[in-house]
Amino acid sequence: MIYHAKQFNLSGLKGISDQTLELHFKLYEGYVKESNKLQEKISDFIQDGELDQEEVPAYSELKRRLGFEYNGMVLHEYYFGNLKKHGGGEPNRNSLFLKAAESSFGRYEIWKTDFVGVGAMRGVGWAICYEDPQSGRISNHWISLHENGNVAGFNPILVMDVWEHAFLLDYKPAERSKYIEAFFSNIDWSATDARVHGQMR
Ligand SMILES: [Fe+2]
Repeated sequence: MIYHAKQFNLSGLKGISDQTLELHFKLYEGYVKESNKLQEKISDFIQDGELDQEEVPAYSELKRRLGFEYNGMVLHEYYFGNLKKHGGGEPNRNSLFLKAAESSFGRYEIWKTDFVGVGAMRGVGWAICYEDPQSGRISNHWISLHENGNVAGFNPILVMDVWEHAFLLDYKPAERSKYIEAFFSNIDWSATDARVHGQMR
């Protein structure tokens, strides 16, 4: 299976420059490329129907790296997919996301406080709001790098990249909170709504 980089029609955001987006699209394409390369190498190891003992260390390393590259690819697709020009504001009254936030956190503002709090955590990673498809509840989680902390079986609803490459051209490293504010002023709430209840990203 070959993965193809998606094209995102994204520019003119508030507080996140086109230059940042261009750099970020290139990084995303790198994850797609590496995922394909790793899949191909892994496939070479197993083509003969057995994994020889001397192949195990190299095979294991490729499999570990696949978790990094693959999640890097997928999370960036969610991230770009929940931003749009003229986005932002608050989700509208009938939004499925808003209903999920209110039933899980009481109020939207409490959900937002938690999500922003996760995004401001020290370290390299992501803030992700997931929906538990069993209960419909949403919860916010910190993901280290791209692969540590994802909750098995949960659906990503709102995905925010807080690696420094996501904002370093626009803000200083210590100004992550300004970037988070900018992220919120560009959210495509219709995209998050479409993800609630297991719908397609
Ligand atoms: Fe990124």
